[in-house]
Amino acid sequence: MQIGQDIDHARASLLAGECIGLPTETVYGLAGNALDATVVARIFAIKNRPAFDPLIVHAADAGILFALAHSIPSQAKALAHAFWPGPLTLLLPTSPRVPDLVTAGSPYVAVRVPAHPLALALLQQLPFPLAAPSANPFGYVSPTTAQHVADQLGAQIPYVLDGGPCTVGIESTVVGFPNGRPAIYRRGGIPLEALVAVVGPVDLAPPNPLAPEAPGMLARHYAPRTPLLLGHIPTLLAAHPHPERVAILSFQNRYRDGHPQDVVLAPDGKPETAARHLFAAMRLLDDPQWVAILAEPAPEEGLGPAINDRLRKAAANSANPHV
Ligand code: TXA
Ligand code: MG
Repeated sequence: MQIGQDIDHARASLLAGECIGLPTETVYGLAGNALDATVVARIFAIKNRPAFDPLIVHAADAGILFALAHSIPSQAKALAHAFWPGPLTLLLPTSPRVPDLVTAGSPYVAVRVPAHPLALALLQQLPFPLAAPSANPFGYVSPTTAQHVADQLGAQIPYVLDGGPCTVGIESTVVGFPNGRPAIYRRGGIPLEALVAVVGPVDLAPPNPLAPEAPGMLARHYAPRTPLLLGHIPTLLAAHPHPERVAILSFQNRYRDGHPQDVVLAPDGKPETAARHLFAAMRLLDDPQWVAILAEPAPEEGLGPAINDRLRKAAANSANPHV
């Protein structure tokens, strides 16, 4: 396995039917030819991902993605125009060109144009779009550097295209149009307020009982192996039997002196800053020397709700790590 910035190498691997690590502005993807069912099956196998969880298809422009859909709601066009390239995924009625494995048999295909210069340059040079889930083993924290991908999937892929640390740091916002109105299926890099400014009211889609995000349905999602406790940090710290053996993941405050390993996600108080550092911090603190990670929610504005979604999922699964 190699890490590098060689687009020709990445392209050659993909043309040969292999999967590679792909940088995007949100998180790194595990990418392969979205129109080749054999390659798509390999993506599921490498990630150890259940076949009922569909993949996002990536291309360099909206036209290529819209050609995979059999119709495009006008609000989807407005959102694509406003936010692509960017951290927004749209669920569109799928067409027969898209392999069933990509959509997991759903009538919708998830599509997005990523805002990353290396990814866009690569996609422009490929004759097919790329299916790319986050490049982590199923259930673990998403990768935000090329090294994170290499650490976990290095034995199974030939190449990771290194685009540097991800600038958004959490996954894309997933929006569908179930009743002719936009609905958020996953909070992410585009905040609710920004969607509303473009298309008016946006619903929160009811959680799908089959979706792996449902806490407790499946073992860990977005979760470190070390139990993560979410709440008011001074209270959690005071109640913990071994405060010396816990790590703290805080939003803006530092809660104790003499513990240089504690991570402050956003010294500037901005949720975007916290989002950019969240997954790398979870990985850093996911170390057997800590019996627990104490974390606190971000303020509920901008990317705050998306950050808190990830923290809640990590915490819910920690409480019950062997489900
Ligand atoms: O930012 C991102 O979205 C990253 C980068 C690599 O683009 N990708 C990513 O993919 O997070 P993944 O596979 O880890 O998450 C895709 C999400 C899942 O929650 C999946 O259930 C949802 O999108 N999804 C995909 N297709 C769907 C569909 N047809 N209906 C409902 N949800 C869908
Ligand atoms: Mg994922």
